[in-house]
Amino acid sequence: MSLDILLGLQWGDEGKGKIVDAITPDYDIIARFQGGPNAGHTIEFDGYKHVLHTIPSGIFNKNSVNVIGNGVVIDPAIFLKEIIGLKKFNIDLQSKLLISKRAHIILPTHKIIDASSEASKGKKKIGSTLKGIGPTYMDKTGRNGIRVGDIVNSNWKKKYKILKEKHLDLISSFNQEIDLSLEMLENDFFEGIECIKSFNIIESENYLNKSINRGKKILAEGAQGSLLDIDFGTYPFVTSSNTTSAGACSGLGVPPNKIKNIRGIFKAYTTRVGSGPFPTELFNSTGEKIKEIGQEYGATTGRDRRCGWLDLVALKYSIQINGVTELSIMKSDVLSSIDKLYVCTSYNLNGKKINFFPYDLTSNKIIPNYKELKGWDDDITQIKIEDNLPDELISYINYIENFVKVPIKLISVGPNRNQTITRDR
Ligand code: GDP
Ligand code: IMO
Ligand code: MG
Repeated sequence: MSLDILLGLQWGDEGKGKIVDAITPDYDIIARFQGGPNAGHTIEFDGYKHVLHTIPSGIFNKNSVNVIGNGVVIDPAIFLKEIIGLKKFNIDLQSKLLISKRAHIILPTHKIIDASSEASKGKKKIGSTLKGIGPTYMDKTGRNGIRVGDIVNSNWKKKYKILKEKHLDLISSFNQEIDLSLEMLENDFFEGIECIKSFNIIESENYLNKSINRGKKILAEGAQGSLLDIDFGTYPFVTSSNTTSAGACSGLGVPPNKIKNIRGIFKAYTTRVGSGPFPTELFNSTGEKIKEIGQEYGATTGRDRRCGWLDLVALKYSIQINGVTELSIMKSDVLSSIDKLYVCTSYNLNGKKINFFPYDLTSNKIIPNYKELKGWDDDITQIKIEDNLPDELISYINYIENFVKVPIKLISVGPNRNQTITRDR
């Protein structure tokens, strides 16, 4: 009779897809509540490596229903590609995947606006994935957007044309050369629209609330990370949705008093893709080593992810905003063979020590203060129980737990769904 939420506590790519897939057997329904195809959620099992962008990460489990919630923005062209990519798995997608009527649609011109806006910002660009996310949420809050529920109505194209003309005016005002063909984008778009129409398009808030009342267990799957939240992230270097737990209520239509566990996940270190402040970023060979071993390249754009030490000040902030009840630590295997590890325990802001995540990390000079912890040498990727993990890793985990005062219940030691250790303390 409840809903759990799983979300990322850093700047995204914490390994949400892996954990949602691994814990899906505990749930009846998996529901994405925000973001769009700026997300790339990687799942590995039985020799397959698969990246999902819009479709929830419970799709590979035979028994789960997957819902694309009202808070998500859908790119029909990317959605179609995802559906085609899943063909080889022989999943009965028509019965397992439900789409909210209230989800907004990313138009071809939203992508061109995104690209033009970024190009016009020059060095100050956000580092957007250029999937049209910001412009689509702008039209949503500006009350101009087109929703999935509209496309079943034959006159929706009139609305499309009006919005497209408005967008073209905006695009020309940016005065940027953008290498995207609207005609080609539109061909893929309309093909994708037909694909969406072939699915079950529903009032998903009704479906989810009824399911809760019938005793079903739901997992709300977050995208991006808490530090990319439109309100609480490192604004303006953020995405355009509420990635934090409150976003699950508005993004699914489920009330706060139905929420039970809030499962926060974080990497044993920190990464960030795109622009924006990152106090514990490493610019040395250790940063390069983490990038190489952790294969820190974006699942959506292929861009290098910036790497740095674990930032406990930022983690504590994310835990507070989300009300996290339990944690999963990801990619601890990547830190094997790094002699000395560092975690940031406070900042110096303009010469003054602070213990909180400040309003402005962009213009102020932030210097992290670190605690040194011992590393470990062992390959931990095949370990199945906590007792067999190196003592230094256990100390590392205990230090984090003591600092943030929330239990770490899962330890991920590799990308495969089986490389997940449950702690039974
Ligand atoms: P998401 O966006 O939060 O779902 O994360 P991504 O899929 O973008 O990035 C996480 C990357 O780390 C993917 O390539 C995963 O396969 C991989 N991964 C997840 N957990 C682990 C882990 O514990 N160890 C290692 N080495 N890789 C992991
Ligand atoms: P998952 O769900 C990491 C980042 C972009 C950029 C900023 C704004 O895979 O963790 P946008 O396209 O939303 O306008 O980009 O947010 N970003 C992500 N970084 N993981 C993601 O998703 C991201 N989605 C957006 O790199 O800095
Ligand atoms: Mg990702």
